[in-house]
Amino acid sequence: MKRIVLSFPGHKPLAEAVAAKLDAALGAWELRQFPDGEDFVRVDADVRDCEVWLVLSLDRPNEKSVELYLLAATLRDLGARRVALVCPYLAYMRQDARFHPGEGITSRYFAQWLSSFLDGLVTVDPHLHRYGSLSEIYSIPTAVVQSAPAIARWVRSQVQNPVLIGPDSESEQWVSSVARGADCPFMVLSKTRTGDRQVSVTLPDPAALAGRTPVLVDDIASTARTMIAAVRHLLEIPSAPPVCVAVHGLFAGDAYGALWAAGAARIVSCNTVLHPSNAIDLNELIAGEAAALASQLDAAGQ
Ligand code: R5P
Repeated sequence: MKRIVLSFPGHKPLAEAVAAKLDAALGAWELRQFPDGEDFVRVDADVRDCEVWLVLSLDRPNEKSVELYLLAATLRDLGARRVALVCPYLAYMRQDARFHPGEGITSRYFAQWLSSFLDGLVTVDPHLHRYGSLSEIYSIPTAVVQSAPAIARWVRSQVQNPVLIGPDSESEQWVSSVARGADCPFMVLSKTRTGDRQVSVTLPDPAALAGRTPVLVDDIASTARTMIAAVRHLLEIPSAPPVCVAVHGLFAGDAYGALWAAGAARIVSCNTVLHPSNAIDLNELIAGEAAALASQLDAAGQ
């Protein structure tokens, strides 16, 4: 089946890497907004009987996911046989339980919705906390890129004598595998969150910091209040100014400036969400996983 890759704005390097791995052409399409805010979509490629791969990271998910849906629906209407998504940052994974009466479990609803109009999904380190895998909520084939080996390579090449620190128990899965790859020790802070922006943390073993550069690793920096609380706590101990690494640097509102102001030595992220902190390039890995998923879809005849 002929393959075509369509890139959303800002994702051209990743779309080119995916197209090269899939032996696909990059297709042209247009997305613009009418004055009232509604989207206009036009596809300039013949997509009949094709497998179309869309490339879009879902930070700012509410506006982008409507654009995604409208493009996917247009492609189906134009005769595309499959529509798959390369989505370096997959949104709506954190509300994975009903924490208080009446709350929606939005991760589940969002997954059901994407599964209703996509045939496959590739992403990077989705926030799997209470779910063991994406298949618990996504009913389409999915593939996950692990960022840990690339982060470990970055730490080895950039940080002298590191000790890795996860700011909360959820981060242990990432921080432990980065530590293995970087061949250095790690520890996990205990975190208490009392609101979207109210976070406190404590370090179990301050003596383990002696003579080392702390490297905070978390999957998501959103308000960055988790990282900020960790940076402040470490500096009070005291420790060397910590390096902060986020897989997905969302950095909402004042987050990025506030993290620098808290005393971070460096702030870096993977290029899953476009941001000035991007320092760890995952495009080739993501493209490779897209090619593997494409073969899987072929084999399943889906
Ligand atoms: C928590 O479950 C995640 O792993 C991150 O620690 C969290 O999303 C960070 O959020 P914020 O940057 O808003 O503190």
